[in-house]
Amino acid sequence: MLKHSIFLVLLCISVNLQANELFAKADINAGKALANQHCVSCHASSYGGDGSEIYTREFAKVKSSKGLLAQVRNCNTMIGLKWFEDEELNVAAYLNQNYYKFDH
Ligand code: HEC
Repeated sequence: MLKHSIFLVLLCISVNLQANELFAKADINAGKALANQHCVSCHASSYGGDGSEIYTREFAKVKSSKGLLAQVRNCNTMIGLKWFEDEELNVAAYLNQNYYKFDH
């Protein structure tokens, strides 16, 4: 029984590691720095706290990794940051790892 549980835990870990192909090459730390610098203050001013509630609210608009990337792109375009695609990917990957946790 114990062996069986350990096997399941290991299986979950390995599935998680390779979980999200879209973000496989993203640089999460770079994404975090960009998001903190450019994105948090506006979300925080409308949602309070550190602004992260916008990502975890019950009726979050974003439903998948692709949707998340698209939303990052929208906010990015809206505020005119002119990020490169890899920067958008890094930020989306950071938000996914910390808040959305999509595996597809
Ligand atoms: C000027 C204010 C403002 C800035 C700056 C801003 N956002 Fe937003 N963001 C919003 C608002 C308002 C919404 C909610 C839109 C809605 O509900 O239709 C939102 C929603 C989002 C969502 C979707 C939340 C959900 O429902 O799941 C994501 C993801 C997001 N923003 C990412 C970013 C990123 C990344 C940046 C930095 C590039 C950024 N935002 C900068 C105002 C802003």
